[in-house]
Amino acid sequence: MTDRTYRVAIIGLGRMGSTIDDEFPDRSPPYSVAASCQASDRLHVVAGADIDAAKRAAFSQRWGVDALYEDYVEMIRQEDPDMIAVCTRGHLHAEMAARSAQEGVGLIFCEKAIACSMLEADAILNAVRESGSLFNSGVLRRFDLRYHQARDLIRQGEIGEPKAAVHYAATNLLHGHIHSIDTLSFLLGDPKVESIWGELHSIDHRIPDNRLDEDPYGIFQLTFANGVTAASVPAGNWEFEVLGDRGSIRMLGNGTGLQLRKNDAGRARVASEVPVAPVTEHSATQFCLEDLVLAHEEGRPTLGPVEIAHHLTEVCLALAESHRQEKRINLPLENRSLYIFHR
Ligand SMILES: NC(=O)c1ccc[n+]([C@@H]2O[C@H](COP(=O)([O-])OP(=O)(O)OC[C@H]3O[C@@H](n4cnc5c(N)ncnc54)[C@H](O)[C@@H]3O)[C@@H](O)[C@H]2O)c1
Repeated sequence: MTDRTYRVAIIGLGRMGSTIDDEFPDRSPPYSVAASCQASDRLHVVAGADIDAAKRAAFSQRWGVDALYEDYVEMIRQEDPDMIAVCTRGHLHAEMAARSAQEGVGLIFCEKAIACSMLEADAILNAVRESGSLFNSGVLRRFDLRYHQARDLIRQGEIGEPKAAVHYAATNLLHGHIHSIDTLSFLLGDPKVESIWGELHSIDHRIPDNRLDEDPYGIFQLTFANGVTAASVPAGNWEFEVLGDRGSIRMLGNGTGLQLRKNDAGRARVASEVPVAPVTEHSATQFCLEDLVLAHEEGRPTLGPVEIAHHLTEVCLALAESHRQEKRINLPLENRSLYIFHR
């Protein structure tokens, strides 16, 4: 194990790249990529790219970084970073992540959702596979040890065999459900999704020109290859529940609590809560970025490899396709060009 420091370059010097911690003054673990790198012994931000000169100047002043670029490709070529963090809005993710891989960057963090269409997601998948780069995306619950605790309890058989899973919150597809579906998948050990039924909030089933210019709210019911079904409830505080044949686990209030319930031995249809030691909140962004470093050093896959990000993007887009066709959709999604703009 070395203690080498990795050189990070950030594309998009806005909220996630630089300033989002200002919005949560009571939250201590670093959230933005720049703040997370500053907190890390393994990561050092050496450069930033943004088309907005004011963002570049503010970034330079805040983080003491002098290597600033308008053109991210020029930044990669000049600075030769070990890691790139794509922190622009959604419609730019695929182009920038694929290009970073093609330019030879070994470690790639890409904000979620990684693409607006499966054509774009396929381009990232191909570029990252070809370059051999390691990849994680900004589905941060996957990198949060509180969710790891829930996954491990499920894996250890504490709730018996998982049968169903639920996500609670009203949210949109590529900004929100990419998180909800990723977390459900993560909690269950990332089995493949076989099929999905979905409905968007608009009752109009037409998606003109195979394109939506707004990321729509929606609900889903999906089936994993291991037979577990998962559904969304469009209300609540970003909670997740996995129900097994001997109990259930519920992540409460956006990860702030965990409730484990086990079926009572002598009483049918009754379960009792079992205390679980709480896991302290930490920086999931830092964990995610350091996972890229550790995966590289340990010669292992990352926790959120490009294949999983690609597959779960496909699930989100298939939700919209299900609405469009008014029927359940089996994966892989045939409609590769269905495009949903997201921020
Ligand atoms: N994972 C999370 O918890 C989380 C939280 C916040 C935001 N996000 C994601 O981060 C991404 C960015 O969101 P944000 O709120 O930080 O946006 P933002 O608008 O604050 O920042 C984006 C920046 O990209 C810059 N930009 C635009 N085009 C560019 C280009 N061609 N080259 C270089 N820079 C360019 C903009 O000038 C802007 O400064 C989104 O995908 C969002 O979903 C994720």
